Amino acid sequence: MIQLLTVIGARPQIIKAAALSRAIADNHSHTIEEHILHTGQHYDENMSQVFFDELSIPRPRHNLGVGSGLHGQQTARMIAGIEEVLLGDRYDGVVLYGDTNSTLAGAVAAAKLHIPVFHIEAGLRSFNMTMPEEVNRIVCDQLANICFAPTQTAMDNLRREGLDDPRATFANGRRRHLSLSGDIMYDNSLFAARVADQHCTILAELGVKSGEYLLATIHRDHNTDDPARLRSILSALAEIAEADHRPVVLPLHPRTKKCLAAAGVSLDSLSPLLRTIPPASYLEMTLLEKNARLVMTDSGGVQKEAFFFERPCIILRPETEWVEIVEHEAGIIADADHDRIVDAYQSLNGRPVCFPPLFGNGQAAESILSTILDYLQ
Ligand code: UD1
Ligand code: UDP
Repeated sequence: MIQLLTVIGARPQIIKAAALSRAIADNHSHTIEEHILHTGQHYDENMSQVFFDELSIPRPRHNLGVGSGLHGQQTARMIAGIEEVLLGDRYDGVVLYGDTNSTLAGAVAAAKLHIPVFHIEAGLRSFNMTMPEEVNRIVCDQLANICFAPTQTAMDNLRREGLDDPRATFANGRRRHLSLSGDIMYDNSLFAARVADQHCTILAELGVKSGEYLLATIHRDHNTDDPARLRSILSALAEIAEADHRPVVLPLHPRTKKCLAAAGVSLDSLSPLLRTIPPASYLEMTLLEKNARLVMTDSGGVQKEAFFFERPCIILRPETEWVEIVEHEAGIIADADHDRIVDAYQSLNGRPVCFPPLFGNGQAAESILSTILDYLQ
């Protein structure tokens, strides 16, 4: 039996992990045993537990309860906790998702103990070294035994950085392997889209109709922690809402809620059409995305989910890792610039957009598991 430790901590990782856990339970329970370690990076009920309940993710065997903090302190506490778990039990590999501090901590702890690291969502690059996520990704990819790239662009980035250099040798003489697996988030979106309608009534609860409202999320630190950028984005959303008489549904990340309060920004005073709600559950979010007229976001995951559901997207960042979305004109980068956001809305609203299958076939979890099994044989 192969023993895998999956390290999660932040909202998007909990959601991504669901797809692999589902594939293990459905097709590999005789060969793979998966244990989950939750670092506790996200801890509010609606940032963590809701996804376990809704997606039937196995209960974490370990919860480090690390919580929030400065990057160094938070990551250090995670590394120490993960190391203790890895020293206590035998694991054949550690599975990591994305680019958060929990991902970084898992990679460092496992690599130092010579335990194979499997990095899912490898090879993404914004080339913006001021993003904490860019630092985390680069380190994780360097330490990973297998880098699972969701897109051809990600695969090209890994090769350009020399990660296919055959001289890199891990324990037991193993070499690094690069795998174009497709995007595991697509597996999840296909699954959630099938079940969300039966479980959620969020549209009716909010009093919004399919195709008539806009959906927005903001949580990236360079937007939330800079009051001028936050105000600029929100004033653009308010202008769009008022000009087009459309509600903007804004599920608020706790970070954003705190920063709005600290900056003394009242959304109601900007426009009553800005409708903030607490963080949505994954199935609610799936429905909100699927039925939105257009999505505006600085989230990595939400950009892609907009694409999966064939919704145009305004990207509230200076750049994106998901360059395919912009290249296919399904998304426009507008950063936090008021005028660029309003112009992007005018350009995308109601325009027919093409959504080719750029993110695999919805079977990334199966591809990842069979690659891991081959690697560990
Ligand atoms: C983290 C990730 C980011 C990812 C995001 C997903 C890092 C460096 N950043 O950003 O890549 O896109 O998660 O959502 O790992 N907070 C709460 N309750 C919670 C969690 C957070 O109130 O359950 C508040 C705290 O004030 C905390 C702040 O949000 O200080 C930021 O949380 P943190 O996990 O440090 O970073 P995120 O902005 O969530
Ligand atoms: N998400 C959610 N509820 C919300 C906002 C986002 O379930 O209120 C989901 C979203 O559908 C996607 C993931 O969280 O699957 C994206 O996470 P987030 O935007 O926090 O982080 P990022 O992808 O930018 O790292």
